[in-house]
Amino acid sequence: MYYVLKGHMFEDEVQSMIQLFFINKSFSVSECIVNDGMCVVSTYKDNCCIADIYDNGVFCFSEREKTHNDDIKEIKRCIKISLYKVFKNITGFEMPWGILTGVRPCKRVHDMQKEGHKSDFIKKTLKEGYFVSDKKISLVMEVAENEKKVLSENNKNKVSVYIGIPFCVSKCLYCSFTSYTVGQYKNKIDDYLKALYKEMEFVSKYIKNKEIESIYVGGGTPTSLSEIQLENLMKNINLFFNKPKEFTVEAGRPDTITKDKLKILKEYGVLRISINPQTMNDKTLELIGRNHTVKQFIDIFEMARSIGHKHINTDVILGLPYEGENETVNTFKQLEKLSPESITVHTLAVKRGSRLKEVFNNYKMTDYSTMEKMIDISSRYAEKLKMKPYYMYKQKNMVGNFENVGYCKDNCQCAYNIQIMEERHSVFAVGAGASTKLCIPEENRVERIFNVKSVEDYINRIDEMISRKADGFSEFESSEGNKGYFWR
Ligand SMILES: C[S@@+](CC[C@H](N)C(=O)[O-])C[C@H]1O[C@@H](n2cnc3c(N)ncnc32)[C@H](O)[C@@H]1O
Repeated sequence: MYYVLKGHMFEDEVQSMIQLFFINKSFSVSECIVNDGMCVVSTYKDNCCIADIYDNGVFCFSEREKTHNDDIKEIKRCIKISLYKVFKNITGFEMPWGILTGVRPCKRVHDMQKEGHKSDFIKKTLKEGYFVSDKKISLVMEVAENEKKVLSENNKNKVSVYIGIPFCVSKCLYCSFTSYTVGQYKNKIDDYLKALYKEMEFVSKYIKNKEIESIYVGGGTPTSLSEIQLENLMKNINLFFNKPKEFTVEAGRPDTITKDKLKILKEYGVLRISINPQTMNDKTLELIGRNHTVKQFIDIFEMARSIGHKHINTDVILGLPYEGENETVNTFKQLEKLSPESITVHTLAVKRGSRLKEVFNNYKMTDYSTMEKMIDISSRYAEKLKMKPYYMYKQKNMVGNFENVGYCKDNCQCAYNIQIMEERHSVFAVGAGASTKLCIPEENRVERIFNVKSVEDYINRIDEMISRKADGFSEFESSEGNKGYFWR
């Protein structure tokens, strides 16, 4: 498939619409109409965006959208609308999120609210200006409302800390996160932790007078560390950082958890853990390479409860290979019995860097309407469990451009998840692949400082990572209007 741009250079917008309708198809830009398969021409001329489709050089369809003004945002929106309409014509599909392809749909709602718009106006804009479905409008409005309590308590004195442990016992089929197997990296983990503690100490000095809203230890799977390593990590977190209001550790894979590790987490003040089944169907667990059974997950979950872990989150993924409505019902029925405090429902994303991407064509992926039904099942079960949707995000390359939603019982929302999505609160992140975000909500500004991804580079270049942070912090602090924003 080819695309041609005429009268504008907004390639990202054109690509995002092609990707939305033709997931996993390759496409490239061309100077002129190509007589080889499908070619789409996106034109901006005289306040009008036009999308024309050609098949082997023969004109087939056209759609247009008039812009209301010359604002770049408006032109981009209309380019997307014209393409959306023409692709909808040829495929017969309507996308649940319309032309909203960004990762953070709630942000759009909060922005409109900040501009003083009322709910009815926001809903109308999402429906008529972005083609979002009624169901998704209700969802995004509800999530935005449920996020308000956490967001309204933000102030300059509050920050969060992310600590990355990029190790796991093995890589799941769908996983594209930075993670290294503990087996292969056995000899490097202690060096990694040493470098991590150096970076933690550095950050702790900068934020020593701050209130830490949350500490989030993520991965990989932090519990793939040995008991001694995990205990040392917890000791250092307690040593360097003020006591947080919220403290999460992603225990993740049940096959990494032991009774002693659960006790260590409890003893050092962890308030929320994630134990993730992804699915409650053994066949799928085997297929995605998780090396644990449903029974093992249940046993570990109950063990965590018996040790006194009061907030357990469970991650699930809808749309794993060969799963349909029955498997989703089974997953939720079984989770219902365990009654976790929160469930994070993901829809499968086929990401670059995952084994799934390499073998995509060997698997029968879930079709759009089945995925929609599975999402409905998950939200019905969440309601039954007295859970509300409290945060959400979308990822690229999701089948049907669907969303990930975190559901929780009353007062069980994870503030960290909300903050990381809404970007109005600074997060100081340490570890390989971690990215620090310095936020100035008044200016809608976010400055990022990145660490290197590879474990070896992180260990060897830890001093450089620390000076990157020092430079980033002082640059941020000396920029107009930010004097003393964080650390004076
Ligand atoms: C950072 S990952 C950590 C997972 C943890 N190591 C484990 O294996 O349980 C957080 C969650 O993202 C979700 N996830 C990861 N890759 C995904 C993908 N390709 N599509 C959908 N959800 C995905 C999974 O539910 C996973 O538990």
